[in-house]
Amino acid sequence: MSDNNRVIIFDTTLRDGEQSPGASMTKDEKLRVAKQLEKMRVDVIEAGFAIASPGDFESVQSIANTVKDSTVCSLSRALNADIDRAGEALANANSGRIHTFIATSPIHMKYKLQMNPDQVVEQAVHAVKRARNLIDDVEFSLEDASRSELDFMCRIIEEVIKAGARTINIPDTVGYAVPEEFGHTIGQLIQRIPNADQAIFSVHCHNDLGLAVANSLAAVQAGARQVECTINGLGERAGNASLEELVMAIRTRHDRLGVTTGLDTTQIVPASRLVSSVTGFPVQPNKAIVGANAFAHESGIHQDGVLKHRETYEIMTAQDVGWKTNRMVMGKHSGRAAFRSRLEELGTTLSSDKELNDAFARFKELADKKHEIFDEDLVALVSDTRATA
Ligand code: KIV
Ligand code: ZN
Repeated sequence: MSDNNRVIIFDTTLRDGEQSPGASMTKDEKLRVAKQLEKMRVDVIEAGFAIASPGDFESVQSIANTVKDSTVCSLSRALNADIDRAGEALANANSGRIHTFIATSPIHMKYKLQMNPDQVVEQAVHAVKRARNLIDDVEFSLEDASRSELDFMCRIIEEVIKAGARTINIPDTVGYAVPEEFGHTIGQLIQRIPNADQAIFSVHCHNDLGLAVANSLAAVQAGARQVECTINGLGERAGNASLEELVMAIRTRHDRLGVTTGLDTTQIVPASRLVSSVTGFPVQPNKAIVGANAFAHESGIHQDGVLKHRETYEIMTAQDVGWKTNRMVMGKHSGRAAFRSRLEELGTTLSSDKELNDAFARFKELADKKHEIFDEDLVALVSDTRATA
């Protein structure tokens, strides 16, 4: 029985993520990432764009042949050759999906496709039917949906659902939407399309205005039940909605959003590291969830709070997302409580308040000269304090 509150996580790191300039991956690297996504219990892995190159075809094929617990998907334009190539690459998949798309905005139809709306509907329906002849699970995307007309979207979606599409994806291709507006659009589509209940509505948000996650969550609140996202928010231009942020927002704010995912969130940090190492794209230290500072505390007030009760300054645990632990970073903003606690962890107990005060004063002097004080610095500092006492 399907669970109405379960959000399907569709990861497109290996397709849209790879479209990040400079992020291309070899077949073996893609397979390693796909295995990690499967381990993390991602529902759908978009493995590539089978017609794009022989290498991409082989990557999709090898992932389809290997991954058993996630659905494996290939992208294809709404063209016969693309669809057939995707079907070929997915032939041995345990659970395969063809994802076909065509642009629906006036600007894309007029200048890029040079087609009128009737021709676009006709091509979309033909593509979905052709894909359904090859595979049961077909997703249809309206490229540049956030700049498309609502009435036209209703018309084409109704037709592609009749033609057999099971998932309808509404991309914010150019990252133009704002949350309230995007949520409203999704709500309107679900309400107005007579056969909307025969498909799952999905969203695919780009981050050009830094709103990809917010827009995706607004869509979920309006009834979308699949979100397309990437590890570390990799993707075209400013990237796609970040998987780790979406999944942890859904988990942490279940009280407000009322939905769940099936992900093993403890696999998030290993996935982030793997993607960063194979693409060579570093993760910024202050990146939510997976940045090195995401669970680090430096200021004395925060450290004191966390030492007294973790939840004073943490809304999730570091372990929930796959870090070993949170971190107290010793720096110039650190306080006496964290200083003493770190020394105790290092097996050093200061014998008197005077010794603690002297060592702490030396620590503050050093902290003004260095960004971060390491454990070795602390040990040296305490022995200096003792030697001069
Ligand atoms: O951004 C986009 O519109 C896409 C589609 C192909 C889904 O990546
Ligand atoms: Zn995209």
